[in-house]
Amino acid sequence: MNDNIPIPSRTEIRRASAHIFEMLLEWFPDIIQSVDSDGQIIYVNRKATDLLGYTRDELLGMNVRDLYAPEIMEKVEKGFAKLKDSGNLAGIESVVCDKEGTRIPVEIRSFAVYDNNGKFVRTFSILRDIRDIKELQNTLIHTSRLAAIGELASCIAHDISNPLAVVKLYGELLAGQISQLRAEGDEENAGRLADAVEGVQKSAEKIEKLVNHLRDFSRSQEAGNELVDLRQTVEDALFMITNKITKGNVEVVRNWPEGESFYVRGSASQLEQVFMNLFSNACDAMAEVPEPTIWIQIEPAPASEGSPPMWVCNISDCGSGIGPDHIENIFKAFYTTKGKGKGTGLGLSITRNIVRRHGGEISVNSVVGKGTTFSIQLPCWVDE
Ligand SMILES: Nc1ncnc2c1ncn2[C@@H]1O[C@H](COP(=O)(O)OP(=O)(O)OP(=O)(O)O)[C@@H](O)[C@H]1O
Ligand SMILES: [Mg+2]
Repeated sequence: MNDNIPIPSRTEIRRASAHIFEMLLEWFPDIIQSVDSDGQIIYVNRKATDLLGYTRDELLGMNVRDLYAPEIMEKVEKGFAKLKDSGNLAGIESVVCDKEGTRIPVEIRSFAVYDNNGKFVRTFSILRDIRDIKELQNTLIHTSRLAAIGELASCIAHDISNPLAVVKLYGELLAGQISQLRAEGDEENAGRLADAVEGVQKSAEKIEKLVNHLRDFSRSQEAGNELVDLRQTVEDALFMITNKITKGNVEVVRNWPEGESFYVRGSASQLEQVFMNLFSNACDAMAEVPEPTIWIQIEPAPASEGSPPMWVCNISDCGSGIGPDHIENIFKAFYTTKGKGKGTGLGLSITRNIVRRHGGEISVNSVVGKGTTFSIQLPCWVDE
């Protein structure tokens, strides 16, 4: 045994322990705060200043209520009252605001501290930033909703196929009657029947095309490796929303060199969804515009050193435009400004996912009251 090692006194041990404890609180990865019975903040650790953007002095001069979002103040007061009564609250989700006003979702654990007479004197709370967890939860909900939509699309496609085959068959049988009527010299009825049969056959073809698209959609989560012509994909997407375009009296202006193709590698049905979402949003945004127009332009992107050759496709409208407060949210899942039941807010988030899965990027430029342009860049097809 080494007799030279000095044995620390009790006071020294206590001081060292207090120092370690202080350091632990200070560097703890979650906010630790203590507030008095009026809600005045009396202690915060370093994480609080980092996350909320206030200095320690600013925080120590504040009431804890100033940190919560105003819209949840009633809930905060109830939580505070419950904490005083029950002594602790565990795993409560809430929202605090940083100095800029940005909402931060947090999970709170709180303990009440009482004096010797049982009087409530202060709280001690741990606030965990759960933005990442929330984001992950949203992605999971989003993914499972997409899977459900895919399954539904596949069921609908299957259920429509059989009655559609019957409609087509009767159409053909009726077409056979036309020549018989003509042979009997009944030109008037033959003409009427011919018009009706043409209507049935055209509608059946349209339904068949839609069913095929639904089927493709349900498979569209698979990564594609097809040779896709963006021009054709744009035309297919326009076909799919013909109704919306016609109803909205929307003019479509195509701007690309005649006869040229714009090949990319990927999934035609996924890219068709991209354009459908963009056209559909453009139509919605131009509901109040006197001459609604969608401009579509495809051309090679300007060459840039170190990056592969890309196509750039601009989809412009002259609709309501998107305000600066909204523009940073539009690609987030479930963000919509459309009324309840009108939009899911998934369109642009799916669109961006698909474009990125194809090695591309999407950006937006918008002027309120003038219109919006979405630009999609996608790598050109290169033979391997
Ligand atoms: N061309 C546009 N002009 C003006 N606002 C747009 C345009 N495109 C998108 N937006 C805005 O972005 C929001 C999000 O669009 P997104 O396509 O993701 O969802 P949505 O259209 O609201 O719902 P869904 O696509 O499910 O019908 C829209 O609610 C709208 O406010
Ligand atoms: Mg949309």
